[in-house]
Amino acid sequence: MTTTARRTPIVLDVDTGVDDACALLLAALHPALDLKAVTCVGGNAPLVDVVRNTLTVLDTCGREDVPVAAGAARPLLETPVDARHVHGNDGMGDLDWPRSCREPAPGHAIELLRDVLLKAAAGPEEDRVTLIPLAPMTNIALLLRTYPEAARGLRRIVFMGGAAHVGNATASAEFNVFHDPEAAAITLDACADLGIELLMYGLDVFYDPRVSLAQAAALVAEHDSGPAGLAGRLVAFQCERFETDSATVGDAGAVCAVLDPEGLTTERLPVRVELAGTWSRGRTIVDRRDWAGNLVQDPHGQAPATIDVGLAVDGERYARLWLDTVTGAL
Ligand code: RIB
Ligand code: CA
Repeated sequence: MTTTARRTPIVLDVDTGVDDACALLLAALHPALDLKAVTCVGGNAPLVDVVRNTLTVLDTCGREDVPVAAGAARPLLETPVDARHVHGNDGMGDLDWPRSCREPAPGHAIELLRDVLLKAAAGPEEDRVTLIPLAPMTNIALLLRTYPEAARGLRRIVFMGGAAHVGNATASAEFNVFHDPEAAAITLDACADLGIELLMYGLDVFYDPRVSLAQAAALVAEHDSGPAGLAGRLVAFQCERFETDSATVGDAGAVCAVLDPEGLTTERLPVRVELAGTWSRGRTIVDRRDWAGNLVQDPHGQAPATIDVGLAVDGERYARLWLDTVTGAL
């Protein structure tokens, strides 16, 4: 990577989270990315833990320069539930990793997002920001409805959420969308209104970029502290938690999709969010029918948002990208 090549401006919205931490490591360390800010939302863990975990990962990467702001502590309407049964009591694997003593930036996350995006809008086209939500989309919905003019600073949104085929939070729904279905629906609607390009990195590809317990152990052995040591511990925690010999880097895959789009296979498809279903609330309904035909009999009509949906991924390629970045091998 030549130093003269233009870095891609990005902002992450996170509910750190073990795999959000994996994504933050990649975003903070890869030389082709310009991490402008990180915003936090309640999800995997309560907001206060999410903020602390996020600051801790950025400190570990030596990226105290990246502003972090706290956003919504709860969904717009849905009763909040967390995922500490997956991510540990502190939300980041209960690793006893040295915790950041820093405070987040003052003000709400959507104000930081607004300021970063309006600054990007005032600059040349290459300054436009790729926003990467890796959590319930409460902050994103609030931003786009409160400050729609900020959308001018966006290149596109690449979000981890939803699925064309499977669920995890329920049989039908993926956690980030299930946690705040209204926010996901508002985000899709606002993006259609505002002409914002969307890429959905959903569960259909989420589990494929995997790192083995042996690779994690080597990271810990060779890099007791620092980003690589933390990376190894995050993967090892998941392997131990689920009694598996490998673990997904999860949210980090969405950052890989920005860095290396050739590793992801997508289709442009209509997507809407189920808000009313008893057993299907929070499902992303990805319409894979052949719309070239005559669908006038469909009482629902086409969804307002037609977006790029990730349907297959080169998991080994993305896992290697993550490992090379966290070890500084790039
Ligand atoms: O369903 C997976 C998503 O939910 C990931 O973003 C994970 O961090 C949790 O937030
Ligand atoms: Ca997450």
